[in-house]
Amino acid sequence: MADNFKLDLNHRPRRLRRTAALHAMVEETVLRPADLIAPLFVVDDKPVPEEIKSMPGVFRLNIADLVKECRAIHRLGVPAVALFPKLDPKLKDDDGTQALNEETLVLRAVRAVKKAVPELAVITDVALDPYTSHGHDGVLNAVRDDVENDRTVGILAKMAVMQARAGVDLVAPSDMMDGRVGAIREALDAAGFTGTGIMAYSVKYNSAYYGPFREAVGSAQAAGTRLLSKATYQMNPANRREAIREAQLDVAEGADIIMVKPAGAYLDIIREVRNATTKPVAAYQVSGEYSQIQAAARLGWLDLARTRHESLLAIKRAGADMILTYFAKEMAALLKA
Ligand code: PBG
Repeated sequence: MADNFKLDLNHRPRRLRRTAALHAMVEETVLRPADLIAPLFVVDDKPVPEEIKSMPGVFRLNIADLVKECRAIHRLGVPAVALFPKLDPKLKDDDGTQALNEETLVLRAVRAVKKAVPELAVITDVALDPYTSHGHDGVLNAVRDDVENDRTVGILAKMAVMQARAGVDLVAPSDMMDGRVGAIREALDAAGFTGTGIMAYSVKYNSAYYGPFREAVGSAQAAGTRLLSKATYQMNPANRREAIREAQLDVAEGADIIMVKPAGAYLDIIREVRNATTKPVAAYQVSGEYSQIQAAARLGWLDLARTRHESLLAIKRAGADMILTYFAKEMAALLKA
């Protein structure tokens, strides 16, 4: 009986899955190198690249190697890099004062990259975590039990102007202080940098997936203690409506690009934000997303190439116009081939 079972169907979706040609004709989402942004870690005084233990294949680079890497990335059609400095711990203090030093590592790196590869867009983080001894994104209040919003915003606005002067195309406040996008826009305009854009980390969750990044930039000093919880400024992973409120506030304050972070576990949020604003939407496939794919691939439990591609495709399909990903270079090389 099962042998000659027949269905009388008008619709057989499998018809369009029969051949590669048909697949190509009905494909809805295509990844391009131009969709990708490469986050890169920069360090001083290291003759050779230092691999980040929890991020196999990702290295901290000195400025000369960073410039070479940027050239290679640009050649592959990736339009932008996001730079993150790893500071010598001796340079850190409670207020993150090195963030306002004209000769600080990231500003020297920006100047070198913009000089060597001016067509490549350069993005820098506006937040104090690489500079503070406690690893928080801002300065602490007098009793040291929270990050002080307004004083932090004052510092961030200065930091953004210095980054603009160094030549960045976009500043990216990742600190989640209230009102910082508006304050940064005002400070940039007042200093004459009306053309420098703001890629706002508008919807940034207090996520476990940032663990490997904190190893990479050395901001995990107080990890596991109450002090490093970023829950008083980063968003609760349980919240969806709040994401729309954060995005709307940043649009109103003058953000040019709205970011959602992390990406893979927040595809619903990417879609909601996509539908709620006409601004370009960025998504950050963060360090932990990269590391878990790498780890499973190393154990032989997942196929690296397929998982990498699928993870990025899903983020684009969810509504991201651009994706920050540690896979940017290798993915662009594959897409270009
Ligand atoms: C810090 C910052 C973080 C990331 C980007 N900027 C970490 C944090 O908030 O502690 C995370 C990126 C990643 O995990 O890849 N302002």
